[in-house]
Amino acid sequence: MIGSDINNAIKFLKQGELVAIPTETVYGLAANAFDLSAVTKIYQVKNRPQFNPLIIHTDSIEKLKSWGLILPEKLVQLAEKFSPGPLTYVIKKSNHIPDIVTAGTDAVAVRIPNHPLALELLSKLDFPLAAPSANPSGYVSPTNAQHVYEQLGDKIPYILDGGNCTVGVESTIISFMDEVPTILRFGGLSLEAIEAVIGKVNSIFNIQHSKLPIAPGMLSRHYATTHQLVFGDIEKNISSYDSKKVGIISFYKKYDSVLDEHQFVLSKDKNLDEAAQKLFSAMREIDKLHIDVILAEEFPNEGLGRAINDRLKRASVQEEGN
Ligand code: TXA
Ligand code: MG
Repeated sequence: MIGSDINNAIKFLKQGELVAIPTETVYGLAANAFDLSAVTKIYQVKNRPQFNPLIIHTDSIEKLKSWGLILPEKLVQLAEKFSPGPLTYVIKKSNHIPDIVTAGTDAVAVRIPNHPLALELLSKLDFPLAAPSANPSGYVSPTNAQHVYEQLGDKIPYILDGGNCTVGVESTIISFMDEVPTILRFGGLSLEAIEAVIGKVNSIFNIQHSKLPIAPGMLSRHYATTHQLVFGDIEKNISSYDSKKVGIISFYKKYDSVLDEHQFVLSKDKNLDEAAQKLFSAMREIDKLHIDVILAEEFPNEGLGRAINDRLKRASVQEEGN
């Protein structure tokens, strides 16, 4: 069922059931992180490999501390500016956090999402919510309640409807497990914004085509559409296909040889934030067309363009990662 009743969501979560929740990035498939059987259901419903750990969500730094987590200084500096927000911190786990959440590793990922309904829900819970994106493993993440319903509607009792996600790509993940903080996933908060607060960080950006997960769950093929997706220079790639059977995902340009209804321009005004917000909806819509191939172009590698390129590149990887 889809609805916006927080009390209903709380009831199911306390019973150990799964509830899809809105966040500013993408919808999450949430369970009480302290309830082992509830967390197990997440892996089952998503068909997610057991070695891929989950992010825990809460509404305050104080709660994180109350669960025995120690917050490094640079994390606190970032949190003052960007939490609640589209940023996830990987830190040393405490005994409060069950192994199933961290897939047996000694690190846990934590995030305070910036969505009014999610924050209100979290403020009423004395446990964190473990929540991966609410899509079957490997597919495109949902950015509205209907997306969740289409794929998981018959598997979960409640979808809390908080409208369209305003950021539209998953959170940026930064790890504090090494001396120099390391970006594990480009996402809704830009590298530039992070470095402006804590200085230079490391980034893992060579993993897209690696078959091995660099961190647990950092799989190569991900965000995949059913149609084949080819990433790169559209002008160059288009000649290899029947242009009537081509779909386009572009930043601001249209292509004369391609049918208008097959073209998804993400931001006429060349705004990367707007493009990120529309990306996953466009990938879902274009996947419903009767076409042979999706051609997606490379976006400027700055701001949220890095996250967009990462998602498109992963969607274009042909062979299964793991
Ligand atoms: O925006 C988001 O982050 C959304 C919303 C729902 O919060 N969540 C999300 O979760 O994208 P998920 O599970 O789809 O992606 C989380 C990523 C995975 O690649 C996972 O491997 C990584 O975070 N991760 C989780 N815990 C980790 C840990 N302890 N160490 C390293 N990576 C971790
Ligand atoms: Mg995901």
